[in-house]
Amino acid sequence: MAKDTTGRLHVQVKTGGKRKLSSKLWLERQLNDPYVAKAKAAGYRSRAAFKLLEMDDKFRLLKPGMAVVDLGAAPGGWSQIAAKRVGSLEGKGKVVAIDLLEMPEIPGVDFAQLDFMDNDAPEKLTAMLGGKADVVMSDMAANTTGHRKTDQLRIVGLVETAAAFACDVLKPSGTFLAKTFQSGADAELLAQLKRDFATVRHVKPAASRQDSSERYVLATGFRGGAEE
Ligand SMILES: C[S@@+](CC[C@H](N)C(=O)[O-])C[C@H]1O[C@@H](n2cnc3c(N)ncnc32)[C@H](O)[C@@H]1O
Repeated sequence: MAKDTTGRLHVQVKTGGKRKLSSKLWLERQLNDPYVAKAKAAGYRSRAAFKLLEMDDKFRLLKPGMAVVDLGAAPGGWSQIAAKRVGSLEGKGKVVAIDLLEMPEIPGVDFAQLDFMDNDAPEKLTAMLGGKADVVMSDMAANTTGHRKTDQLRIVGLVETAAAFACDVLKPSGTFLAKTFQSGADAELLAQLKRDFATVRHVKPAASRQDSSERYVLATGFRGGAEE
């Protein structure tokens, strides 16, 4: 077995039979990804867990007792981190999560299988929350069509809807964190977030694949949220 530049063994997967080149490349990337191995060893359901861990360690977003909404939660890495950090297992705080897909239960997480773009999704989520949220985070990624412009608009549409929901449910000084992609299509969203939040920044965690245009927008210090 060959070693990569860091001295780790590099696993190569054979094509042939029913395996297509794209699945060979995906499998090879998974098998050689240090974050996949780390996630398995730590008991996290996804390598994405490390993205949130890194952003939270740097910006201190999740604190004991907080109420957190996790949009696009499956398979559950972010929810696991959130439950641990707010203490929802010990009865502190709350983690409410949704996804289009099913998600096996995570202790301390209140989950519903739901399309966030459904008209009644915000209402259902608000009922699950039972109050206001300290953090709304979204790792949602829209399915791609292959048509670049359409995909960019879909992604931005998802983030814009998540941001509008965040503005409805966040407490004063709350936080909005969402996956976006470098495209320039999100200029209007950023302008809006800058009006609604004290600080808006882009973050690219080390665990986010360097060859992907994925990045996160982090908006802290929500200016609204006071009860009327
Ligand atoms: C990258 S994964 C999330 C990984 C997750 N943060 C973790 O740590 O395990 C993106 C998820 O967004 C979900 N998603 C995409 N569009 C959605 C929508 N409209 N409503 C709810 N979930 C959605 C997908 O089903 C998928 O599970």
